Amino acid sequence: MNDKEIIDLANTYIIPTYNRHRIAIVKGKGASVWSADGKKYLDFVNGLAANNLGHSYAPVNKAISKQMSRLGRTSNLYYTEPQALYAKALVEKIYKGKVFFCNSGTEANEAALKLARRYSMEKKGKACREIIAFEGSFHGRTMGSLSLTHGEKYREGFGSMLPGVKHVPYGDLKAVEKAITEKTCAVIIEPVQGESGVHVPTITFVQKLARLCSSKKILLIFDEVQTGFGRTGALFAFRHFKVKPDIITMAKAIANGYPMGAMFAKPEIAKSFTPGTHAATFGGSPAACAGALVALQTLSSEELLENVRSMGRYMIIRLTGMKSAAPVINHVRGLGLMIGVEMAVPCSYLVEKCAKSGLLVNCTNKNTLRFLPPLNVTRAEVDKALNILGKLLGA
Ligand SMILES: Cc1ncc(COP(=O)(O)O)c(C=O)c1O
Repeated sequence: MNDKEIIDLANTYIIPTYNRHRIAIVKGKGASVWSADGKKYLDFVNGLAANNLGHSYAPVNKAISKQMSRLGRTSNLYYTEPQALYAKALVEKIYKGKVFFCNSGTEANEAALKLARRYSMEKKGKACREIIAFEGSFHGRTMGSLSLTHGEKYREGFGSMLPGVKHVPYGDLKAVEKAITEKTCAVIIEPVQGESGVHVPTITFVQKLARLCSSKKILLIFDEVQTGFGRTGALFAFRHFKVKPDIITMAKAIANGYPMGAMFAKPEIAKSFTPGTHAATFGGSPAACAGALVALQTLSSEELLENVRSMGRYMIIRLTGMKSAAPVINHVRGLGLMIGVEMAVPCSYLVEKCAKSGLLVNCTNKNTLRFLPPLNVTRAEVDKALNILGKLLGA
């Protein structure tokens, strides 16, 4: 089938919840993908930060297919070796705690929400159901996570959200302090906001937030669904801020694109989930865990993380350098290889132009061009992408 045939077929039978580009991708390798029509693209969308080691990363694929031919999945009524081994490996990369496995970012946040409420009730002996989240946040689309996600555009038509969720400006500690009541059980934060246009908070703010939560006995939840697994130049972004969140949620790149999610909690908090309190049929399948275990070895290697930091710095310098010749660029920001270029105008036109020139990038929050290349991207690939953009901007 060619691009058009695939697109027409999909449009006939799939509910259109996405604004898709008219490109049908059939193959991927490293930082490149190919369409059914045979056109090659440099992919700096990268499955929306889910393929951190690039497309068709052989070691992960081999581990998954080997495990698939032995035992792809079984129910969580039994134990499996890949799940046990991966849980150990993951926890050892964080700090003392335990994990719950699920399949996606929104599910990981649902688990965090339930655990925070249950733990607080047990600990304080009364229902503490209020959660503080931030303006501009994105935590997922199921009803619990959606209640944490900020913005009417995500909620319109879906009726009442969870009661007790308060949104305060990102980076505003006084607003957090003001929003806290004796019923507050948690604060949830993206350590770098992704969907609202790549916003990096100050170290001071995050550290003060952690201290405030600890002094008020409120749980601090880090949503590392997008920032996790090396994206910001550290295995998890909490390391940049030198804080230890009580709960960490993750998904996307955990198994380099194979669907999987996880929630980590400190030991005392994890105890509030007991048999029957929470579950996920497909959570932590042996195949996903076998892939994730191999992915983790590379994602946590200093060599890869150094590439993220140096390529990230290089991209920010070059993009900032384009500003003088391209005044349409307002602001360049990011951490590691999570980079946003805020434009003075909506950027969807530019995304289309980039695609025509062989570069896939994404426009988020209307006017921010977002770059999420694979973490092993080369300098030559970065140069090629930025040359395409520079040419289109006349820079
Ligand atoms: C920070 C953050 N949390 C949660 C989610 C939801 O993840 P999923 O789409 O896997 O449910 C996303 C997705 O973009 C995200 O960026």
